[in-house]
Amino acid sequence: MVHRTFAPKTNAKITTIIENTKFISLMKYGLPYQGSKNKLAKRIVDLLPPAAHFYDLFAGGCAVTHAALLSGKFGKVHFSDTNDSVVLFRDCLEGNVPDGSEWISREEFYRRRDSDPYVRLVWSFGNNQKNYLYSKEIEPYKKAVHEMIFAKTPNERRLKFREVCKLMPSVIGGGGARPADHETTERSQRLFIDYRVQNTPPPKML
Ligand SMILES: C[S@@+](CC[C@H](N)C(=O)[O-])C[C@H]1O[C@@H](n2cnc3c(N)ncnc32)[C@H](O)[C@@H]1O
Repeated sequence: MVHRTFAPKTNAKITTIIENTKFISLMKYGLPYQGSKNKLAKRIVDLLPPAAHFYDLFAGGCAVTHAALLSGKFGKVHFSDTNDSVVLFRDCLEGNVPDGSEWISREEFYRRRDSDPYVRLVWSFGNNQKNYLYSKEIEPYKKAVHEMIFAKTPNERRLKFREVCKLMPSVIGGGGARPADHETTERSQRLFIDYRVQNTPPPKML
């Protein structure tokens, strides 16, 4: 196995990157939802005056509802949508959140998509609520990684790690573990790190 260490060019540049990174908010409002106002939610709520009632009529992923609840500016927060994503958000507020340990296969996704908002939102590509999160080619690798993360014992985790390593070439080369594919991947990783070290502020994280 190849072990790679990326050496920073100067400490000063690293310090600048860390200082710029401080301004990137890690807060996520609401559910992962296509069209979510996650990035704007706090700004929207900050613009509103305090009130006894706050209504989010097209709540979707409930990002604005979430920010409204956290603001403490409203006596009661009401949220609705024709989509049952709001039911999932309410469940989350009540602490009924799936722990993510269940692997949802492609078949399972299409079987439960219409009746289970957690499966539909969290396991869809780009949270589009339509298509399964992973391509057929990459699914076995992702499943192995998932099972490694949620393994119950260190020994199970070690065995799963081996499986992950075995499946990795099929993912890196897009199906064929040709040496050129590895080289291309390593080269682009190197270029990305160089870019991060040399350019400030760092590229905007999505
Ligand atoms: C862009 S999304 C809202 C995103 C939301 N503000 C957020 O931050 O996650 C628009 C929402 O309007 C909902 N919608 C469309 N027609 C509706 C209707 N007649 N009544 C209630 N909700 C409706 C859709 O289901 C969708 O979730």
